[in-house]
Amino acid sequence: MTVPDAAIPPAPSPRGHVRADPGAPSSAPARRSVLDAIRAGEHVEAEVHRDARFADPVLDIRSFCLHYGPTQALFDVSLGAARNRVTAIIGPSGCGKSTLLRSVNRLNDLVDGVRITGDMLLNGSSIYDRRTDVIHLRKRLGMVFQKPNPFPMSIFENVVYPLRIDGERRRSVLLGACERALRASAIWDEVKDRLSASALRLSGGQQQRLCIARAIVADPEVLLLDEPCSALDPIATLRVEELIHEISARYTVLIVTHNMQQAMRVSDFTAFMYLGRLVEYGPTAEIFQRPHLPETEQYVTGRFG
Ligand SMILES: Nc1ncnc2c1ncn2[C@@H]1O[C@H](COP(=O)(O)OP(=O)(O)O)[C@@H](O)[C@H]1O
Ligand SMILES: [Mg+2]
Repeated sequence: MTVPDAAIPPAPSPRGHVRADPGAPSSAPARRSVLDAIRAGEHVEAEVHRDARFADPVLDIRSFCLHYGPTQALFDVSLGAARNRVTAIIGPSGCGKSTLLRSVNRLNDLVDGVRITGDMLLNGSSIYDRRTDVIHLRKRLGMVFQKPNPFPMSIFENVVYPLRIDGERRRSVLLGACERALRASAIWDEVKDRLSASALRLSGGQQQRLCIARAIVADPEVLLLDEPCSALDPIATLRVEELIHEISARYTVLIVTHNMQQAMRVSDFTAFMYLGRLVEYGPTAEIFQRPHLPETEQYVTGRFG
């Protein structure tokens, strides 16, 4: 984690927020659980730490709501992802993590019956404006899924695929970009002598690092990772985690994980979601060591979920 671990007083609670007052006398009425309020369908203001309010986030999610047909999956989510930092989204299965991530590159446009309100800004430009060209938008983002999905072609052609569909034909440019992306993805030494071999012959962990290389070869503004290690063994997982940490020197990363140790190891900021709502968002060290909400503490210490 690159965030200094200084003692920072909690930000004042927004008005109307149901939240604990640790100093309240015991005669005060019992505080209602934020999670109970969410389960009852009430609006609950997210607890956003002072150091997670960015003046100029790369990705700025603003009051974003999403419905799948009659069912609402995201409720008024607002959060910013800081430049060259790793932001993790954690929360129980089904809380909307993947929906939120897929909404960034508008993959949910492809699902029938999806309706959204609110917006997201990528380096200041609207993702959901009617005039936004979705093909162009997706070129500005890289995405990696749970299961490695190399294309049935060579290692080289996999990595340079985004450049090829963009019309790049110069061999020297493609070779240079391929090497840079494979080096940045910590797999160059393992594949440099067999770039023309099929990507399908690589191990699962190598395939996932290859998919990360393909996702960054065109220099995306944000790299989106949806549980990228969930299909990998522990050793391959550690290598990909190291890679995610390194890669954030040059890229802004948004990673969904249900693995809290992973969020602690790889991320600078952590957002805790529950039933489609953002509950608490802050520097990873604060979320795991001194969250503002008891519900967040219960979740990160494994007491529910
Ligand atoms: N294509 C879809 N159509 C309808 N409902 C969906 C679809 N995808 C996800 N959902 C629902 O949206 C909610 C959030 O799902 P998801 O974003 O996959 O959660 P997570 O990634 O946190 O496990 C769940 O209730 C899920 O059943
Ligand atoms: Mg998911």
